[in-house]
Amino acid sequence: MDLGAKIYVAGHRGMVGSAIVRALRAAGHQAVITRTSAELDLRDGAATRAFIAAEAPTYVIMAAARVGGIKYNSLAPYDFLYDNLIMSANVIEGARLAGVRKLLFLGSSCIYPKLAPQPIHEDSLLSGPLEATNEAYAVAKIAGIKLCTHARTQYGCDFISAMPCNLYGLGDNFSLENSHVLPAMIRKMHEAKLRGDPVLRLWGTGTPLREFLHADDLAEACLLLMDRYAEPGHINVGSGEELTIRALAEGVAQAVGFQGRIEFDPAMPDGTPRKLMDVSRIRALGWKHRISMVDGIRGAYAWYLANPAEARR
Ligand SMILES: NC(=O)c1ccc[n+]([C@@H]2O[C@H](COP(=O)([O-])OP(=O)(O)OC[C@H]3O[C@@H](n4cnc5c(N)ncnc54)[C@H](OP(=O)(O)O)[C@@H]3O)[C@@H](O)[C@H]2O)c1
Repeated sequence: MDLGAKIYVAGHRGMVGSAIVRALRAAGHQAVITRTSAELDLRDGAATRAFIAAEAPTYVIMAAARVGGIKYNSLAPYDFLYDNLIMSANVIEGARLAGVRKLLFLGSSCIYPKLAPQPIHEDSLLSGPLEATNEAYAVAKIAGIKLCTHARTQYGCDFISAMPCNLYGLGDNFSLENSHVLPAMIRKMHEAKLRGDPVLRLWGTGTPLREFLHADDLAEACLLLMDRYAEPGHINVGSGEELTIRALAEGVAQAVGFQGRIEFDPAMPDGTPRKLMDVSRIRALGWKHRISMVDGIRGAYAWYLANPAEARR
């Protein structure tokens, strides 16, 4: 990306968007433009198209979304489907109409079938039923990928999409209501430590395998993809490494200093049994993650401690 060019980062206050803005600034990009959801609700198509037309950014990175864990996804499937579908469509269509040179749409590994062969290759998309607990979110993300693909094939737009694995990092959502597994564990263990609880019970069996990537590593990958990826299909972004939820819990306990016993509640849902992405395509472009889980979890916990108001929303 040209250093002087205008770049619109949608969702800049989120964990991913803020990491992308940090990475852009660190790389010397000065003309980064942003709007909060209060300033520009991306569900409003007319306002979104007018904003993109007026600002005429050269590049757009779409990191705005309604995001949440299993519980919130199950409770509000309509909101997850509608908001994500309409926000993505509005930004992609606004960019197409305004002649944006390149757009990156961020999805998620939940787009893949529940029982996709592991590690999950990009070609597994739409090859089987989705995991029921986040189907609505996944359908919206799949629609976003297809909008980018068809904008390219029908209109020649250089729009790409990237599918990250589970992410964590600074500015994560630590809410007990709608957060993802890792920040939820950090918060629960921190609070259990403060109370001196002898036991902490977590959802599921502890056996599912998951892959995690630090948002700052994802941001580096996004910058690289803007420069080096221009294909009609989406591309996976992950560490290529997996661990069980139990091992994750033990790592979080160590970082947080929780000394009680960790128990799992098998009556609660596990989600997909294993989710490891095939990252050979992005590795071939010359990218690999750099932040280890130990360092990353320590950093996320330090951010949580330093930002009590934001972290405990
Ligand atoms: N977190 C993960 O583990 C994970 C994993 C894989 C993929 N992803 C993808 O990464 C992207 C960003 O996720 P995240 O974790 O950074 O989410 P996040 O921290 O919840 O941030 C979401 C951002 O979206 C913006 N937003 C939400 N509704 C909006 C609306 N109606 N209009 C305008 N902006 C709106 C919010 O803006 P305001 O702050 O201004 O309200 C917020 O900055 C998503 O596409 C997600 O699917 C995330």
